[in-house]
Amino acid sequence: MIQQHGGNLREISQRYGIPEEEILDFSASINPLGPPKGALRAILDGMEGLVHYPEIDGITLKDRLAGEEGLSVENLLVGNGSSEFIYLVPRALSPKRALVPMPSFSDYGRALKLAGCQVLPFPLTAEEGFRLDPEGLINALKEVDLVILCSPNNPTGSCLSPDKLLRVIAAAAEHGITLFCDEAFIDFVPATTIRRHVKEFPNLLVLRSFTKFYAIPGLRAGALYGHSALMEKIAAFQEPWTLNRLASAAVGAALSDAAYRESTLAMIDKERAFLTEGFASLPGVRVFPSSANFLLLETNPPMPEPDRLFTVLLRAGILVRSCASFPGLGPRFFRIAVRSPEENRLLMESFRKAIRSFV
Ligand SMILES: Cc1ncc(COP(=O)(O)O)c(C=O)c1O
Repeated sequence: MIQQHGGNLREISQRYGIPEEEILDFSASINPLGPPKGALRAILDGMEGLVHYPEIDGITLKDRLAGEEGLSVENLLVGNGSSEFIYLVPRALSPKRALVPMPSFSDYGRALKLAGCQVLPFPLTAEEGFRLDPEGLINALKEVDLVILCSPNNPTGSCLSPDKLLRVIAAAAEHGITLFCDEAFIDFVPATTIRRHVKEFPNLLVLRSFTKFYAIPGLRAGALYGHSALMEKIAAFQEPWTLNRLASAAVGAALSDAAYRESTLAMIDKERAFLTEGFASLPGVRVFPSSANFLLLETNPPMPEPDRLFTVLLRAGILVRSCASFPGLGPRFFRIAVRSPEENRLLMESFRKAIRSFV
């Protein structure tokens, strides 16, 4: 089957007749520690407040995020997950032609097309480990109004260093091109964020998600950082009340939990290294270096055919993300979330069993 997004447990459970609770979900890349305790407490404490509307523009969270980066609230929008802004930005800016590296997150193409924008792919290749060449991208900056980059890139995990990104942004500014950088997974590599640079570059937008790192995809919370003039245009198109009260309270509490951030980074770094090494030792598997909480794998013989591999893993209770739907990848590619130490060992064992059952 073609998966458009990870985490669609209900559909998979119905299609394959496996109860949801028996599936370990490696297809959605969510922090395996679960939400910070303080965020859960804030949600419970916030229940009584549900009789009131939330702040119309999420000003409390905007103020907090602005303060953390030395920005002002005019540089911030907050809303119902970062997805809100993937769709809002093209609607508000009406670009005619946009350059988008591929493979990358599929919603960019959908959002751009819905806004009547032509999508020009900038191919990333397996030969180059799907790394983006900043000079190549700068040379391709012709006759487009918008560039969308994802760092770390979903599904490849590759991350551009801030100095390289800033060179691309400066070149885009010279051509009057807006650069929209999706940093949905940046909290897993916090030193590489460029969000504070929105003050310097009038053409820069930076997207942040709270759902992956803080494990609250069901609650929905995200933010957009940008230069104030650009943000004014986008804010005019935003619907009211898109950050609900519980999400606002939970993100506020989550941001205060430095210990949770440290434990997450320590665990993910260690477990990503464990899985990278484990997959690299399997015959027919190529694993791409990742800075995020997921890994991209390419499988070839003697690994089982992709459909069979997917099904055998699922029968063992392991759901992985087939990358068949990503232009520039195909069925031989899989994305695997980094989960807890115990679950990751189970995953490796299931892959080894899958190979043994076919050779
Ligand atoms: C790269 C990227 N950006 C944005 C999103 C949207 O996330 P959310 O709306 O939960 O913040 C996703 C979700 O998978 C993603 O992978």
